[in-house]
Amino acid sequence: SQSKKIIIAIDGYSSTGKSTLAKHLAKEIGYVYVDTGAMYRAVTYYAMKQGLIDMEHFDKEGLISDLDNIDLRFEFSPELGYAEIFLNDQNVESYIRSIEVSNLVSKVARISQVREKLVEQQQKMALNKGIVMDGRDIGTIVFPQAELKIFMTASAEKRAQRRYKEMKDNGVQIEYDTVLENVTSRDHLDTTRADSPLVKAEDAVEIDNSNMTVEETYALAMGYVKDKLAE
Ligand code: DC
Repeated sequence: SQSKKIIIAIDGYSSTGKSTLAKHLAKEIGYVYVDTGAMYRAVTYYAMKQGLIDMEHFDKEGLISDLDNIDLRFEFSPELGYAEIFLNDQNVESYIRSIEVSNLVSKVARISQVREKLVEQQQKMALNKGIVMDGRDIGTIVFPQAELKIFMTASAEKRAQRRYKEMKDNGVQIEYDTVLENVTSRDHLDTTRADSPLVKAEDAVEIDNSNMTVEETYALAMGYVKDKLAE
């Protein structure tokens, strides 16, 4: 029945359409959507602003001792239909998707103290269930008990093509090869880091959408959701 509330964990590689899928599912079934990548990005943006990280240097200890000064919260925007992230009361949604943040976020996401802080916050958000959360470690670390776990993959070339098109559409000047390199280097960092590497949970269903449209991906996932809610 629809009154049954579950936790839906969506993990996978970058640019596989996790957030597009998660947002759509959450909207359809009236659940809260949480983008955990936005939290790692906001911490990275904070570190950049404080001069703690750039392409040449990273003051890890400085960031770790500053973690208590970072307040993150999500605020639902009725116009957008999803929640926007606030860093110390400032809406940073439009700053955290930049190429600069994208290039540095993997370094920040490797720090155990950062992960500890964010995971604890993520777990608190699901006390009432009814949540769709996407990231890299949701089904493995944040909610090992999640009722439905989806693991998204697609070939690196397909993912790079999608990002390239997205960036071109947004007027970003960039070469396809640069995008492909960013995709594969992020895959490498995300899957090989010591703390909470990206890995498919044993009980996750895998969706490889290399040759699927957004609508096809959604229809397949929604089928899994309906099955779970009917159990
Ligand atoms: O999903 P995204 O591209 O916005 O994620 C940004 C980075 O944050 C990505 O390089 C991996 C990291 N991340 C993570 O380590 N754990 C999560 N739960 C979510 C994101």
